[in-house]
Amino acid sequence: MSPNPCTFFREAFCEGNRVYLREIKTSDVPRLVKWKSDRLVQRMALGPDACITAASQRSDIKQAIKSDAELYFIICLEQSDRPLGYIRINWMDTSHRFAWLRFAMGEERGKGYCKDALQAFIARLLSQGVHRIEAEAYEFNRVSIGLMESLGFKREGLKRQAHYDGERYADVAVLGLLAQDFLSHA
Ligand SMILES: CC(C)(COP(=O)(O)OP(=O)(O)OC[C@H]1O[C@@H](n2cnc3c(N)ncnc32)[C@H](O)[C@@H]1OP(=O)(O)O)[C@@H](O)C(=O)NCCC(=O)NCCS
Repeated sequence: MSPNPCTFFREAFCEGNRVYLREIKTSDVPRLVKWKSDRLVQRMALGPDACITAASQRSDIKQAIKSDAELYFIICLEQSDRPLGYIRINWMDTSHRFAWLRFAMGEERGKGYCKDALQAFIARLLSQGVHRIEAEAYEFNRVSIGLMESLGFKREGLKRQAHYDGERYADVAVLGLLAQDFLSHA
């Protein structure tokens, strides 16, 4: 039987300059609950209806670990192994050429750690044959859009009023990255 391509990705965790990525574990549940309960992460990444409980996070992690179409990593500080945030591929097509990216920092924002982690992660994915990485961000999420653009992501579209935060509608930016975009920003 041929190996599950996602197993290969998972074992080949990557290292940036100051952070590395390790596979998520069910013992990460409490920190995921804490990070995803943070107001900023809720507003910028999850939306008002997200139900963040230990049970939901345990089941999400288990599902991601066994899925052929997902990757889920914890960003850790190289120096101390301290977990800071997560990067995940929420979906990959069966050929593993097209990947849907999500990420958030639970701690130590604004210090370049997420950019460091994403640079290493994207380089690894592209070296493994991923052709295109796609993401969406609420139009008001300037940091996330700026961060992705600084890595070479291009704005490819705008979904008008596709997000409702409980009070008002917001546009959703669609961003995409091909290998040549990434290399031209390296
Ligand atoms: C978005 C998020 C993950 C960024 O993590 P971070 O560790 O703070 O980001 P970094 O410090 O690595 O990012 C640095 C880059 O972001 C960009 N950036 C930072 N602040 C910015 C701003 N105000 N406007 C535009 N771009 C900005 C810059 O490109 C910067 O790189 P540079 O200094 O080399 O130019 C973090 O803010 C977060 O967790 N937010 C809540 C969840 C979220 O928004 N997730 C993404 C959903 S799409």
